[in-house]
Amino acid sequence: MKTTSQALSWFVLSSYATGCAACPFGSSGGLPPNDKAHSQLRRRLTNVNSHPVPHRKLQEEDCFSGDTYDAIEVDIAAMSALQADNVARGHFLGGILRLAAHDFMDFDQHSERAMGPDGCIDWQHEANAGLETIWCDEPGLCPLKQVYDEKYSFISRADFWVAAANAVIKISSDGGLDLKSTFKWGRVDADQCPDSATRLPEAGDCSQVQETFLNRLGLTWRDAVALIGGHTIGRGNTNFSGHEGIWVDTVEESTIFDKRYYEEVIRRAWIPRNEGTIVQDWTWGNPDNNGNPRFMLNTDMCLLFDIETTFPCCSRTDLTRNNGSNQCDRGNTVLSDTPCGRTSNQEAADAMVEFAGERATGGFDNDNGPFFNAFSVAWEAATSNGHANLQELALSCTPTQSPTPLPTATPTPLPSAAPTNLQTQSPTAPPTANPTPPPVTPSPTASCVDVDSFTDNNGRTRDCAWTIQNGRCGPFAHLCPVSCGECACLLDKRVCASGDECCSGSCVAGQCACLAKNADCTSGDQCCSGLCRDDGTCAGKKGAMFD
Ligand code: HEM
Repeated sequence: MKTTSQALSWFVLSSYATGCAACPFGSSGGLPPNDKAHSQLRRRLTNVNSHPVPHRKLQEEDCFSGDTYDAIEVDIAAMSALQADNVARGHFLGGILRLAAHDFMDFDQHSERAMGPDGCIDWQHEANAGLETIWCDEPGLCPLKQVYDEKYSFISRADFWVAAANAVIKISSDGGLDLKSTFKWGRVDADQCPDSATRLPEAGDCSQVQETFLNRLGLTWRDAVALIGGHTIGRGNTNFSGHEGIWVDTVEESTIFDKRYYEEVIRRAWIPRNEGTIVQDWTWGNPDNNGNPRFMLNTDMCLLFDIETTFPCCSRTDLTRNNGSNQCDRGNTVLSDTPCGRTSNQEAADAMVEFAGERATGGFDNDNGPFFNAFSVAWEAATSNGHANLQELALSCTPTQSPTPLPTATPTPLPSAAPTNLQTQSPTAPPTANPTPPPVTPSPTASCVDVDSFTDNNGRTRDCAWTIQNGRCGPFAHLCPVSCGECACLLDKRVCASGDECCSGSCVAGQCACLAKNADCTSGDQCCSGLCRDDGTCAGKKGAMFD
């Protein structure tokens, strides 16, 4: 079906159009229109990289300990702190949560191919656009993937994505919601998940929420309302979904996991935005808001309002601006006399009001408890779907094989100032569950040979064929320089004494570094972005949003 990006464009945009034709928010149907939103979606689609999912099956001897869980949390906190600003931080944290959600939202309890949380999403599908800025192999762009490759690939991707999302929730709620006690591991990764993205809910109306969360995932409306509260962090992007902005009031709030999302649905005068297009949604206040417009999707609004019957409408006709004008009226949009009625879906509406903590006397309480409790229950169910034998975190992980002798290759002596352990390249110390880290051996450029075998982080015997097969040159190229193509020069982040040893020509603090934006270069291999411009300087991060 999806043989070319053009065919895919047509397929995806057609399905968007069809989806909206079925909903009350208008669509031209037929050919996708040639407006700005569509041309951006098309451009994005042709840029979406293919990220083939490497084969990864949980091994019997694999083990996931509490220490590893904690180490993931520390690493994600460090990566979050390194984000340039709250816009980038909101997308980084939100993107991780969305990644885990997209993995579990393709579950179908009625299908022989149940899918669900299996470390597999369809990277080619427009519904997943934007997630490739979180999980990719482009140097410098996706630190989450890099840290997984370097430190955690002994656990499945699916387990890692859930643990990483749990870390995001704990970090961004300032410890308010800690899901460690309910976390279980043992999800098995899938190699392929064709058509999984067609099971993801579109943002059309509540029938899509019902189809995904109730019919396929086997959850309740209360569960669905709790999970969709994940929109309290992160943002929508014109270039990804076509929906631009944040669900909460400020960019800073979009980095905080709390009940603010529910409060916002209730307290603002929401009016339709982008009416008559496939990216119709809702907004309030200043339409631009310094590049951070506030928005809600139809699938957010429908949880409290009957937007199908009353569309177009305004959710709070009682609010006025300082100048006395009604907040429901702006330009040609006059909706002060058209209130959105409340939905007849009492279970969803009750959950919205409960999680918001709306007081009968007006205003909201300060208690995140009801939201956090409901989220915790729904999250555990959604992230466990399809896996009957998940296990609790181990107290410790004991290697099942005795360590093998150290590699026989003659290593080049380490420069004394160089880091003494390659694993310190990642933001934190490795999990203490790794009892026998491989010996640190700088790539033997003088006598370039692969070792016969070595002991991996979990005490298992590995060889260079395994390293290549499993894409593990990141952590093990120093032991397999021939197989990993590191004989002529040292790869990025290898221990080095001088720039001459590094493929990039740059040795920083004892490690080979790729060249940053605007540094002089002669070829793309030297640049972190992989792009050396015609003027002999490195381009910025390839595809980075916030370059
Ligand atoms: C009816 C169900 C849902 C729909 C229709 C939906 C739709 C969307 C859309 C259109 C975006 C904007 C993506 C972009 O432009 O980058 C988005 C982002 C996001 N979604 Fe959802 N979503 C749903 C459920 C969920 C659930 C269950 C979670 C988590 C538990 C979640 C978490 C997020 C987060 C955190 C973001 C922000 C991502 C970022 O900052 O890059 N969503 N969602």
